[in-house]
Amino acid sequence: MSLPPGFLEELRSRVSVTQVVGRKVTWDLKKSNQNKGDMWAPCPFHQEKTASFHVDDQKGFYYCFGCHAKGDAISFVKETENVNFIEAVEILAREAGLQIPEQDPQAKEKSSYRDELFEIMEVSVNFYRRLLRSTQGVKALDYINSRKLTSAIIDDFEIGFAPNSRTDLFDYLTDKKIPEQHIIDTGMCLRPDDGGPVYDRFRDRIMYPIRDSRGRCIAFGGRAMSKNARAKYLNSPETKLFDKGRSLYNFSTARSALNTRSSLIVAEGYMDVIALSQANFKASVAPLGTAITKDQLALIWRISPNPVIALDGDRAGINAAYRLIDVALPLIETGKSIKFVLMPEGYDPDDLIKERGSDAMQNLIDEAISLGDLLWRRETEGLSFDNPEARAALDKKLDQALLNVRDKQLKYHYQQYFKDLKWGAFIKKSGRKSSGFQNNVTTGNAVKGSFIANSDKKNFISLKETVILAILIKYPSLIEPNREKLTTMGWNSKDHILFLDEIVNMGHLVSEEITENLENKFGDKVLGKLFKQSHVNIIPCLGAKNDPEQAEVILSDEINKLEIQRGLEAELEEVVNSSDEELDETAFWRLGQATQAKFSTKKSGKDDLTNFETAPNGVKLDKEEKSQFDALLEEISQDTFNKSKNHEN
Ligand code: UTP
Ligand code: MN
Repeated sequence: MSLPPGFLEELRSRVSVTQVVGRKVTWDLKKSNQNKGDMWAPCPFHQEKTASFHVDDQKGFYYCFGCHAKGDAISFVKETENVNFIEAVEILAREAGLQIPEQDPQAKEKSSYRDELFEIMEVSVNFYRRLLRSTQGVKALDYINSRKLTSAIIDDFEIGFAPNSRTDLFDYLTDKKIPEQHIIDTGMCLRPDDGGPVYDRFRDRIMYPIRDSRGRCIAFGGRAMSKNARAKYLNSPETKLFDKGRSLYNFSTARSALNTRSSLIVAEGYMDVIALSQANFKASVAPLGTAITKDQLALIWRISPNPVIALDGDRAGINAAYRLIDVALPLIETGKSIKFVLMPEGYDPDDLIKERGSDAMQNLIDEAISLGDLLWRRETEGLSFDNPEARAALDKKLDQALLNVRDKQLKYHYQQYFKDLKWGAFIKKSGRKSSGFQNNVTTGNAVKGSFIANSDKKNFISLKETVILAILIKYPSLIEPNREKLTTMGWNSKDHILFLDEIVNMGHLVSEEITENLENKFGDKVLGKLFKQSHVNIIPCLGAKNDPEQAEVILSDEINKLEIQRGLEAELEEVVNSSDEELDETAFWRLGQATQAKFSTKKSGKDDLTNFETAPNGVKLDKEEKSQFDALLEEISQDTFNKSKNHEN
């Protein structure tokens, strides 16, 4: 269906986004300004106690400073009601008393043609279902019964049977005066290239109708009865109705079966979905004979933020899961991921339920592993990391994978997570005492002597802290969403802590008010000093330019960098405080990791200082640490500025 130009604008101007959103959230009335249509609430799209979800009635938009969900009234309805765009428009139009206008004649014709095709599909569903219960379907029904499907589930899934004849369906449809070309356009029958008579696509197959998100039949999957069939499964071709990469088996039923406690299960095959449903896992879907695509993931995330992927427990299933990681990585965000059920070897969900019952399935679901754990497994399975080369190779692979994660916060936490995993894995492997290094004492001293003593990190940290404070003062809306991080991250400068303590309670004020309060409290000189510092001024969003988006990116970046810096310090401290005898391979490995994390947050494209081997002698690191103040400033302003530009693209 297409809408005439201007209709959406009209709709948007008629509905109040605060009214639409207000049905799903509880406003924070202290923070909100009702008269201005400027409303705040805890975000309905992610778990939080504070109100970082902002709705601007005048602009007709909402934005969450925590999870970055954003959109207008239509997208809000789409997301919260699990409906598609057109359905959301219909809902809102009805509420606003707007008539959805007649479509233009061309679009109308097109959609009525599709309706005719849908009708043919529906007739086919009934035809196959009847045949399954007829004498022709006896063998097929026996087979289905042998697979332990109940009569009720056969009906729920509208399972049918396509007889072993060339033209039964075609004859049936043409008897109903349906034009040949229409039948061919549904993909149910084919005209041979040599122009011979049209024939049925599905013969001697158990038939599974595939429905779209609105419940209309768009395709079939057909399982061969004969073991000698060319393909075990034959699916409808792509047609005007069926785009297989954007459809999922059982989607609309699964959507309505989902509740807040259940996760969607994504299995590999039709039979798995059916068996799962019979075992009361009704929120189950499967792709349609292909690997899961990014469009299918998007569809899945529309209804379930953290679905469970339950692929077959064979090599093919595992490989498919491994490949899915790469599809998912660029798309995951905070609160939007996937997890994986590890099926026992040789089992698919259908086998498992049949042999071990639905409790066994539930246990596996409860133990589903995260995307990060599966990625770790993919890169470490069967490998040994008892030498630096292997460890470096692992680092490269993990870094490579994480390059694709766009959500910065999430990427950072993945990096930390892998760091922990490595730490655990290699400690276990190498033990506390043994060491692969020839010369512990000298390497140990090298570390102590070089980049700890000479580090100019005090400046580095103080610098970052002032940038953070300046951003908060100029962009108070960033205070609340970052409150927790800000207050728990540990600050170096006592002055800064005093500032922060005041600032975190002023998130509801405008910048000028905050400045005034701070000046009253600390005197105007202190604040002037903060803002006049050269490094603060050269950051565009803190200079003359008003750029909240850039400010947001820089803020989260600087917080992250500080966390990394602190991690590095803690690790260094441990090294410094341990006796040289204790400085084994593992400690160096860890040190290498910490340094790497630090430098990877700096500008990329510099020569690689992150190599473990460069750490012990310290020379390069030392230089880097001592690089002039200006360079550091440059790094902050350029690096984060570039990032914020990328962010916009
Ligand atoms: P499976 O072979 O695991 O099928 O293929 P299944 O659903 O478990 O069926 P049973 O238990 O053997 O009856 C998984 C999915 O891969 C697609 C189908 O969508 C199937 O459900 N497939 C498989 C094909 O499209 N073509 C094939 O030849 C085989
Ligand atoms: Mn199976």
